[in-house]
Amino acid sequence: METIIISNTNDLQQAADILQEGGLVASPTETVYGLCANALNEEAVKNIYKAKGRPSDNPLIVHIADLSMLQPLVTEISPIAKTLMDHFWPGPMTLVFKASKIVPKVVTGGLDTVAVRFPSDPTIQNLIKTSKLPLAAPSANTSGKPSPTNFTRVYEDLNGKIDCIIQGGNSAFGVESTVIDTTSEIATILRPGGVTFEMLEEVLGNVMIDPALGHKLKEGEVPKAPGMKYTHYAPNAEVIIVKGEKDKVIAKINELVREGQNLGKKIGVMATDETLSLFNADTIFSVGTEKNPTTIAANLFEVLRKYDDEKVDIVYTLAFQTTGIGGAIMNRLEKSAGYHFIEAY
Ligand code: TXA
Ligand code: MG
Repeated sequence: METIIISNTNDLQQAADILQEGGLVASPTETVYGLCANALNEEAVKNIYKAKGRPSDNPLIVHIADLSMLQPLVTEISPIAKTLMDHFWPGPMTLVFKASKIVPKVVTGGLDTVAVRFPSDPTIQNLIKTSKLPLAAPSANTSGKPSPTNFTRVYEDLNGKIDCIIQGGNSAFGVESTVIDTTSEIATILRPGGVTFEMLEEVLGNVMIDPALGHKLKEGEVPKAPGMKYTHYAPNAEVIIVKGEKDKVIAKINELVREGQNLGKKIGVMATDETLSLFNADTIFSVGTEKNPTTIAANLFEVLRKYDDEKVDIVYTLAFQTTGIGGAIMNRLEKSAGYHFIEAY
């Protein structure tokens, strides 16, 4: 299949036509690039799973560009949902509602709920408005790999497999949206993201975190967001998080690098601007500055992919603080490491 490339500064009518005809279009969003199809066209949505190699029980988020597009997709909008929509839409927040009959089961992975997001990025808004369709869109990467935060990575994974890629700039947030279940009495975070726990708590007073978050799932444990049970965000390299006091972590990582190199492996380190000069390894990248964790969120997936470009075998990384956007950063990093930690002491 030939993949058409369109700049996001162009008219998006051609991309909208492709969606109308049941095709697949990758688009920038403010979180990560998304792979879009008409959410109400079962065949089109099936092709998303094929292009990504995604397990079919992992449901998709439906994207809207106007609040009037929500009503037909859901059976109920709870007061919690209403409050969250007022505060954080458009933006990096996805809400889970009871699904109406028009939402195909292939979108919801067979669940009776549907996840909906109103993104703030003007390109995807324009695409939704021009096509006049709600768009089902997972991240535009091969399933399992770190999500794409720029055009080049979308092209790398999906060129030749989808109809069109809209080329825009780098994603502003760099981690996917916060997914929140609004069907329970208390709002529950199913996946941390750009709208942080602290922001939600300030608005709602009371917020829960899905108990399946923050650890490797146990045998038989069923997370509410099916996506959380799959290996995710993982480069080919093995990622290992080193925790503890900063000085000790740096010394430990340098020791682990030497050990790995002695075994003939190519070793990478994921550092910060502040610690970059303190490491010795084959490949060292800074993921951002500790003074501003939003830079770490914005660079995380791209940096993880860069170790694969360099054919690194093992990446040792610092652990980051878990407050604010750090909650999403550490969630993605823990998953990319398969919850492999080493304690430095
Ligand atoms: O920022 C984002 O959310 C990006 C951009 C493209 O919008 N999209 C994205 O989609 O990250 P995806 O498919 O990579 O992740 C969707 C997550 C998965 O963890 C999935 O299990 C969860 O949302 N999800 C979708 N529908 C759900 C539902 N009905 N109930 C619970 N979780 C759901
Ligand atoms: Mg994804």
